[in-house]
Amino acid sequence: MLNKYNNYIHFGDIMDLLKELPEQSIDMIFGDPDYNVGIKYGDKNYTKDFDEYINWYINLTKASMQVLKDTGNLFMMNYPKQNAYLRVKYLENVYPLINDYAWVYNTNIGHSKKRFTTAHRSILHVRKTEDNNFYKSPPCVEGPALGRPPRHLRAARRRT
Ligand SMILES: C[S@@+](CC[C@H](N)C(=O)[O-])C[C@H]1O[C@@H](n2cnc3c(N)ncnc32)[C@H](O)[C@@H]1O
Repeated sequence: MLNKYNNYIHFGDIMDLLKELPEQSIDMIFGDPDYNVGIKYGDKNYTKDFDEYINWYINLTKASMQVLKDTGNLFMMNYPKQNAYLRVKYLENVYPLINDYAWVYNTNIGHSKKRFTTAHRSILHVRKTEDNNFYKSPPCVEGPALGRPPRHLRAARRRT
């Protein structure tokens, strides 16, 4: 049933595509919708004002959760404020298994004499159940900037 969707890029409105998919059919969803409220992408302006955007974002998340398997994982990336609204106005009441990750990037655009800029995005990781499939081993990897890994990770590495 899902074969016709596999390995294709679908050009269209995501809300239409989500309606076509069967419930509980998708293992992982990563949402990176436009979040610059009021900003145009090409000739399209998807959003008008903040409240309207949040309602759309909540509906997008609802439709996504409908097609997500009980063992699946949903990730929604957005500005921290938009994700805070999504979390408080919708997710906490229905899907409280939530982790909020920060994608941090270097920028000084937006700094001023009065304030720093926001230099991260929020990624909400939402699970329907505690039986979600998650493939991450070891739980943390050594990167050049991290230096020597902590003792428990060194021990874990020796065991694998
Ligand atoms: C922040 S960008 C994501 C960029 C993408 N992650 C990438 O790396 O290329 C948001 C994108 O979502 C698209 N978009 C916004 N609303 C949409 C909708 N209702 N259906 C499908 N795409 C939409 C925009 O056109 C834009 O390309």
